[in-house]
Amino acid sequence: MLVLAIETSCDETAAAVVADGRRILSSIVSSQIAIHAEYGGVVPEIASRKHLEMISPVISQALEAVKVTLADIEGIAVTRGPGLSGALLVGFSTAKAIASARKIPFVGIHHIEGHIFACFLEKPVEFPFLALVVSGGHTHIYLVEGFGRYRTMGRTVDDAAGEAFDKSAKIMGLEYPGGVRIDAMAREGNPAAVRLPRPLMNDGTLNFSFSGLKTAMLQHLSKHPVAIPGPEANDLCASFQEAVCDVLVHKTSLALAQTGVKRLVVAGGVACNSGLRQRMASMAAKLGIELHIPKPALCGDNAAMLAVAGNFYLENDKASDSALDVTATWNMDH
Ligand code: KG4
Ligand code: ZN
Repeated sequence: MLVLAIETSCDETAAAVVADGRRILSSIVSSQIAIHAEYGGVVPEIASRKHLEMISPVISQALEAVKVTLADIEGIAVTRGPGLSGALLVGFSTAKAIASARKIPFVGIHHIEGHIFACFLEKPVEFPFLALVVSGGHTHIYLVEGFGRYRTMGRTVDDAAGEAFDKSAKIMGLEYPGGVRIDAMAREGNPAAVRLPRPLMNDGTLNFSFSGLKTAMLQHLSKHPVAIPGPEANDLCASFQEAVCDVLVHKTSLALAQTGVKRLVVAGGVACNSGLRQRMASMAAKLGIELHIPKPALCGDNAAMLAVAGNFYLENDKASDSALDVTATWNMDH
């Protein structure tokens, strides 16, 4: 089945053509990051307007890249939520309009469901598996028993991991989104240089908390300002990243032990982080866990990832109703 996938939940306008929910034929991602960086974060109305401007050219590019037209597309997978309502509406309305004009089915996909299945575009994973989703808006551990069958084992009680990276970077004076900058600077620093808390590390639950880490960064910087670029800034980034990774790795290994599940997927934008990838790889090797972390281009927001679950639902007569609306918040548990 040839599926057109569309993603506009936040600050990336993306479209992809995917065959059988497995093979990416084209994947176009138009990022608005440079525009929002000026404001230090995503401005919802600007995001919607930019999606409106880019949605048609991005879809055309995705189709032209594989020399197909809308007449060749058999179904559409589109992000229904969670995200910014105005941004979601652009992709969702476009998907509905194409589906109605072409008389083909469309299906609304949970953005996080997209992230979880991105790795299937490299290699399908056997069910059940655990998924650690670390993005700008989510830090969740899910037990994934099948398509549409997710159980939250643990989640952040405040900031998401990506939010912690971005807010800490902002406190340091680094440009939005700071996750990737912290990652680069951390590579040059000493992770043991600055002592930072590991919130909820030993509370016995599978939950996370990152807002205290941000406060600790603020307190440290008020006493020890750092020059950027410089060795002390690198040390602080390395220490911060180490604290986040310690908690993520510890809680994930706890979830693996509690469930006895032997397969782990790490997904979402923060899964691009080089330190986290290394730490997860060594944890998995030590515990004999089959680990799947997609290549960085598939960890960040893209449309191709939506076509995996999308293809499954479309082939199993689970297309969405034409009256369906977007939703800014959406609990994925079933
Ligand atoms: O999944 P994603 O692209 O969008 C959301 O669904 O939120 O995740 C974006 C988040 C941002 O917070 C960004 O700073 C973070 O992923 N991120 C990183 C890295 N690359 C992206 N965080 C740490 N290290 C990275 N290399
Ligand atoms: Zn995302």
